[in-house]
Amino acid sequence: MSRRGVEASRLDGELLLAKALDLRRIDLFMDPDRPLNAVELAVFKGLLLRRAAREPVAHLLGVREFWGLELLSSADALIPRPESELLVEAVLGCFSDRQQPVQIFEPCVGSGAVSCALMREYPAACGVGGDLSLAALAVAARNLQRIGCAGRMGLFAGDLDGCLASEVRFDVIVVNPPYIPRWEMADLQPEVRDWEPRLALDGGLDGLEILRRLPGLVQTRLRSEGVAAIEVGHDQGERVAGMFRSSGFAEVSILNDYHRIPRVVLIRNPVIP
Ligand SMILES: C[S@@+](CC[C@H](N)C(=O)[O-])C[C@H]1O[C@@H](n2cnc3c(N)ncnc32)[C@H](O)[C@@H]1O
Repeated sequence: MSRRGVEASRLDGELLLAKALDLRRIDLFMDPDRPLNAVELAVFKGLLLRRAAREPVAHLLGVREFWGLELLSSADALIPRPESELLVEAVLGCFSDRQQPVQIFEPCVGSGAVSCALMREYPAACGVGGDLSLAALAVAARNLQRIGCAGRMGLFAGDLDGCLASEVRFDVIVVNPPYIPRWEMADLQPEVRDWEPRLALDGGLDGLEILRRLPGLVQTRLRSEGVAAIEVGHDQGERVAGMFRSSGFAEVSILNDYHRIPRVVLIRNPVIP
């Protein structure tokens, strides 16, 4: 597979072999000389061919780990990325009492990964997630069900907060919007460009189409002692923080991810007019 440009192909191969044999990856090393029967070999070859066509491993396995949770993954919703765990960390850093009944809103909820993590961390929390994609919402619903939190989180189909009643406000708003500039879309890795939903990636001409709408959303939806955490592209942190500051927010900061890339814009304690 490495000849076809697939990175980490040994790891992928092991994960796919474990999938074909219906084992955990670690079990492969317990009996490394075990021969494959004809069915196992056919299943494994099928998976390898799909991987060589650059289909993401998460789609082939049907799951992806996020925040220690094994979540369902398919072409219907963006595969949750490790850097999005910073959204969860940012909220935890602001609301340290895990028993608080925080109310959470996640527009652009996708697979529901971030909301699943927050629901797990705050057992008394409840929330609402929205997305334009019905297919993504179906994945989110199944993931919330899978982790036993479906009863605490409502889902709706719609544009950002368009379906919510005008007076509804939240303690926490988390957003990982599409933020890739349209002109960069063609240069994405094939796994992303050809297999992940365009709606989850394409942030419009300059990548900021949805991000530009978020100061207004946060202004109308966040409670006065609330927190909004917004994921941004690698070079968008200062611009997005600037949009919030020029919209009148005073407590705006930028958090770096583990690669020291500015990744999350954090807004606290908005002044409610
Ligand atoms: C980058 S993905 C984030 C998914 C998930 N929250 C995560 O972090 O893995 C962005 C999501 O926003 C949704 N989306 C795009 N435009 C939207 C809009 N105007 N209103 C609501 N959702 C939108 C896409 O369908 C996609 O599921």
